[in-house]
Amino acid sequence: MAEWYKNMSFYQIWPRSFMDGSGDGIGDLKGVLEKLDYIQSLGCEGIWFSPLYPSPNADYGYDVADYRDINPEYGTLEEFKTLLDEAHSRGMKVIMDLVVNHTSDEHPWFQASRRREEPYTDYYIWRPARKNGKHPNNWDSLFEGKAWEYDEVRGEYYLHLFAKKQPDLNMENPAVRQEVKGIYRFWLELGVDGFREDVITFISKAEGLPNDLLMPAAKGLRHYSNGPRLHEYLTEFRHVTDEYDCVTIGEAPRMTPEKALRFIGGDDRVLDMFIHFEHMTADCFMADYIRRPFSLRKLKSAMSRWQTGLYGRGWNTLYIENHDHPRVISRYGSEAYRVASGKMLAAMYLLQQGTAFVYQGQELGMTDLDLPSIEDYPDVSTQHNYQRLARVLGKERALRWTKAGTRVSARTPVQWSDAPNAGFCPPGVEPWLRVNPNYPEVNAASQENDPDSLLNFYRSLLRFRKEPVVRYGSFREYSPRSRRLYIYERAYRDEKLLVVCSFTERAVAFPAPYPLADAEKLFGNYPGLTDMMRPYEVRVYRLRADESSAI
Ligand code: NOJ
Repeated sequence: MAEWYKNMSFYQIWPRSFMDGSGDGIGDLKGVLEKLDYIQSLGCEGIWFSPLYPSPNADYGYDVADYRDINPEYGTLEEFKTLLDEAHSRGMKVIMDLVVNHTSDEHPWFQASRRREEPYTDYYIWRPARKNGKHPNNWDSLFEGKAWEYDEVRGEYYLHLFAKKQPDLNMENPAVRQEVKGIYRFWLELGVDGFREDVITFISKAEGLPNDLLMPAAKGLRHYSNGPRLHEYLTEFRHVTDEYDCVTIGEAPRMTPEKALRFIGGDDRVLDMFIHFEHMTADCFMADYIRRPFSLRKLKSAMSRWQTGLYGRGWNTLYIENHDHPRVISRYGSEAYRVASGKMLAAMYLLQQGTAFVYQGQELGMTDLDLPSIEDYPDVSTQHNYQRLARVLGKERALRWTKAGTRVSARTPVQWSDAPNAGFCPPGVEPWLRVNPNYPEVNAASQENDPDSLLNFYRSLLRFRKEPVVRYGSFREYSPRSRRLYIYERAYRDEKLLVVCSFTERAVAFPAPYPLADAEKLFGNYPGLTDMMRPYEVRVYRLRADESSAI
C-alpha cells in the first residue's frame, strides 16, 4: 500500500479555468503544461485534475460521456500522456477524478440502457412510476428538484442524485462494477498515480430505495450516504488499485472521523483518505446552499476533531478551498484584509497533519465574484438554488444569497497577470467565464518576486511541511472556546510548533499557554511582535526541548 502521499501537497486544477494555451477562451492541457514549473515552484508535488473526460458540460466534466478519453476542449489523450511524462520527470504525481456514482445521460451506456439494449438494461437505477403515477420514492436531487426523471424512451423513471443529466449508475449490477474496475485499470496502466473519487460514499443505495421521512431538506440522503454495500464495493475496487502504486481519496459528504476509520483506518483500509466537509459548513448549512454567520468554534472543532480522531490511525486530507465552494478569504477571512487573512488561513490548515491540497488561485488570494445578474453564473446547482430561494425570498434577496454561496466564485479564470483577461487567454478572446475584475491587483505576476506576497508565503509553508514535526507531530488545541483565536500545538520529539491564528479584525489578547519569550517566530503576517494580536494575524512559534521543558 502506498505511503508516498503522506505529507505531500497537491495542487487542484479545475481545467476549464486554469490556463488557456490554445487561445479559445477555455483552459486546456497545453495551458497546464505551460504552468507545470509554476506548480512545482509552489512546492506541490502532485496534481489533482478535476474531470478531463469528454462531457456535455451539464456539470463541467462531472457528467462523463466517455471514461477513456480527454475532452477535446482540453486536448487529446496524447497530450495528456505528454503532460504525465513531464510531471513524472519532475518527480510529480498526477491523480484523476473518478466519477462513477453517475454518468452523463449522453454516455453510450445510458443511451443503450434507455432502449433496453443488453448488456446495458440494468446499468442505471430504473423504476416504474408508482401506481398513482408518482415518482418511485420521495428522494430529492441535490441539484435539481426531485431525484427521479421520467424517460419517454424507456417508459420509466431513472434516479439522479445530482442533475437530470447525471443518471446514477446501478452499482449493484456486477457488470457495472466490472466497468469501474476497467476504468481504474485504463488510467493506472497509462501511468496515473491515483484518484480522487467523486461522491464515492453515495454509490450504494439502501435496498428497496425506501421513502425518506417528510422532514429532511435533502430527502433520501440517509438512504444512500455510506450505504449498506459501500465497504464491500470499495473492497472489490481496492483489489484492483492494490496492484498499482497508487493513492485513492474518497469525497465523503457527511463523513465523521469515527465513521471514517472503518474505511481509511489501518492496513486493510479500502481507501487511503477521505475529503470530508465538516469544516466547510462553518458558515453554511448543507455545504454552501444557505449561508449563516461564520462560526470559528464550528471550524475549529471540526478541524481539531479530525486531527485527533485520525492521529496514528488514519490519514487526513487538508483543504480550505476547492471548485465547489466560494473562495475562503471571502468566507472565513476578510476581503478588507485580503493578504493578511489569506496568510493566516494558509498557515492555519497547512501546519496540521495530512496530505494538503491547494486549489488553483487560492495561493494568489483570489476572492469571490460579484456579478449583476443570475445569468452570469453558469452552474446547474447555482441556478437551481436561486430558483428555490427566489420563490421564498424574492429575486433581489435570492440573488444576494445565491452569490454568497455560489461555487462559480471559485471557477473564474486564474489571474496570472494584469494583462487583459488576466493573462488567462489572449487579449481579444472572450474567456468562457468572466474574469474577476480585481485581477489588476490580484494576480500571480505581481506576487512572483515580492517576498511578502501571499504566493511566496504559500511557497514557504509548503516547503516547511516537509519538517518531521508537521508530518508526525501530535496535535493539541488550546483555548477551544475562544471565538476569535484558533491556537494549536504540534509536537514531535524535542520540537514544538505553536500556531496562533486570529479570525478577527479587532485587536485581541493572546493567552499564551506557556512563556514564549525565547521561542523563535517562524512564520507571521506582520512584522515583529506586539502584545495584542493584530487583524487576522498569524504567529507560528518554534520551541526546542530546552524551552518546552519549562512548560
Ligand atoms: C462533487 C463534485 O465535486 C461536484 O463538483 C459535482 O458537481 C458533484 N460531485 C456531482 O458529481
